[in-house]
Amino acid sequence: MRRKIVAGNWKMNLDAAASKELIDALQAQSLNPDVTVAVAPPFVHLGAAVAQTQNSKIGVVAQNMHQAPSGAFTGEVSASMLTSIGVHTTLLGHSERRAYFHETDALLAKKVDAALENGLDVIFCFGEELEERKSAIHFDVVTRQLTDGLFHLDAAQWKKIVLAYEPVWAIGTGETASPEQAQEMHAHIRSVLANQYDNELAQGVSVLYGGSVKPANASEIFSQPDVDGGLIGGASLNAADFAAIVNAF
Ligand code: 13P
Repeated sequence: MRRKIVAGNWKMNLDAAASKELIDALQAQSLNPDVTVAVAPPFVHLGAAVAQTQNSKIGVVAQNMHQAPSGAFTGEVSASMLTSIGVHTTLLGHSERRAYFHETDALLAKKVDAALENGLDVIFCFGEELEERKSAIHFDVVTRQLTDGLFHLDAAQWKKIVLAYEPVWAIGTGETASPEQAQEMHAHIRSVLANQYDNELAQGVSVLYGGSVKPANASEIFSQPDVDGGLIGGASLNAADFAAIVNAF
């Protein structure tokens, strides 16, 4: 059975005290034991977050990493630095990384390889922009992102991959994809995976939805057969809202 996952992407929010406070507040919530729960704080808080969540069900995920093992890349963080502090999963390919930091599918393929070589799991983010949906090329865009970013992997490596479909027009806008739009794209993603690999692999990969998921819309989105959870931005900064989303399954 596919894992149900709800992860909070904090983006560039919260100082050290607020990060600690939010994790404390989350640990005080009762969370559905069937759901894998994780938070992705900024790099500087990861070590403290790992220590703080040692005996809890909350996992700690990085938001990004560099593809090189080490070297003259001022301001960057490598995969082995993450594992050395107890972080074993990273987001890659978030639309904000693609848009503001010019991360291409080709670069992301290298980052994915570096993550896997270092034993990290990857939550691979992708999704179309508004213009692409308006031009009805959203399925092609997503197919290309998967193909160029991930289809060099073999079936065994896919056990370390979680997908997060995040239509750019739904991120931080308050406008969420309808449950039907999410389901339609998630089914497309699974059919592309089945074509490239096989049905067993396609049915085994968890595919999360992200983009303005809130307590009010989470259960409808999560009830879609091909939606296995969510990647939550704004609403993950509030413990009660995030817990309500986790418990929306
Ligand atoms: P919002 O939930 O704020 O729309 O952000 C979604 C997102 O980008 C998660 O990675």
